[in-house]
Amino acid sequence: MQRLQADLRLNVRQRTEQYAEVLARELQRDLIVAREIVSPMDREVLVRDARTGEARSMLMFGSNNYLGYANHPYVLEQVRESLDRWGAGLGGPPLLNGTMEPHAALQRRVSALKSKEAALLYSSGYGANIGWLTALPHRGDVILMDERCHASLYDGARAAKARLVTFRHSCVDDLRTKLRDARTLKPTDIYVVVEGVYSMDGDLAPLDRIVEVCRGSGAFIALDDAHGTGILGPTGAGTAELFGVENEIDLAMGTFSKALAASGGFIAATRQIVEYLRFFSRPHFFSASMPPMVIAALHAGLDLLEREPQRRVRLHENVRHLVELLGAIGVHTGSQSAIVPIYVPQGIRKVSARMHNAGVFINAIEYPAVPEGQERFRVSVTCDHTRDDLRRLVETLDGAFEAEQVPREVPGK
Ligand SMILES: Cc1ncc(COP(=O)(O)O)c(C=O)c1O
Repeated sequence: MQRLQADLRLNVRQRTEQYAEVLARELQRDLIVAREIVSPMDREVLVRDARTGEARSMLMFGSNNYLGYANHPYVLEQVRESLDRWGAGLGGPPLLNGTMEPHAALQRRVSALKSKEAALLYSSGYGANIGWLTALPHRGDVILMDERCHASLYDGARAAKARLVTFRHSCVDDLRTKLRDARTLKPTDIYVVVEGVYSMDGDLAPLDRIVEVCRGSGAFIALDDAHGTGILGPTGAGTAELFGVENEIDLAMGTFSKALAASGGFIAATRQIVEYLRFFSRPHFFSASMPPMVIAALHAGLDLLEREPQRRVRLHENVRHLVELLGAIGVHTGSQSAIVPIYVPQGIRKVSARMHNAGVFINAIEYPAVPEGQERFRVSVTCDHTRDDLRRLVETLDGAFEAEQVPREVPGK
């Protein structure tokens, strides 16, 4: 498989030209990216065929619209009402003209959801991670981060002035050792950074044990719960709620782009931390606020979290059923979240092209999102998928694996 790579020895014109050629060649073969969707996001979508220009129906397993809010009638109604009342946008950042009543109210609701005193909005989850990591840790501090953390956490940690140290994925013993080593550097603060649900595998962090290891060390625990918020815990508050450790998390980060199906991010923490970020977190105060209609979609989503808990139940039933169906065709995987990984370290683009041609939309994940040799499909399940949808996904995958002679099980995974 050709890795899409730019030759950094070339100057900017040559490099971009060379990259355009590589990309065009791979798109001619079987690289499938940036498909143009011409309908609302839902369990079934219309996708424009790149060759014919015609729209055709595809079964959607590639969207983090886990609870089906993206096209939920109540969400749409609330967005329409917001448009009439608040207009289309506000043209500025939060410290100036960018805080309307719905924004302030959303901050209060998010802090309550996360059992924190206060919360701050960002226009993306990516920005929220860059935002806190470049504002809180300082020179001489240590950031101890799980090696499988999302790119936004790596980018934030690399931009921060503190030293970045990674520990083995969800390995509490390694965390304990690195925590001990970090203390010998005599930092002012040690930040332990983990995700609730890891975005590429759907596995959960052992938050109870992580919290235990950190207890008494004074470490500051930051949790990115992009994929747990809305789907885990008795009220959907997320992974910390599931483990009963909300009070031990110092900084709860989340996105509005997954279960809440719109966009934006947030940080919830003590009132003092949030106030500090309001003035020191540059992606927050140097970037325009989200339009009120997006905020309305998020309020509507939070209403639905309370009113329609059965969506969460259906989602988890769907995941369990899909894992069973996959097991029956020799694909052994698992998940406690809405993300079901299917490892295809050889030939993923060919299988992906077959899935696309058969009308099933799933995302093939390659480097740099995952290390080379660990390519996978990242199936996003929603509560709205039917049993027939799940069966069709698995039958199509079975046929594609067969046709491409791709092995079903990856030893050691
Ligand atoms: C774990 C994690 N953190 C942060 C982000 C960034 O969030 P957003 O896409 O809302 O900017 C993502 C998005 O994929 C994610 O998976």
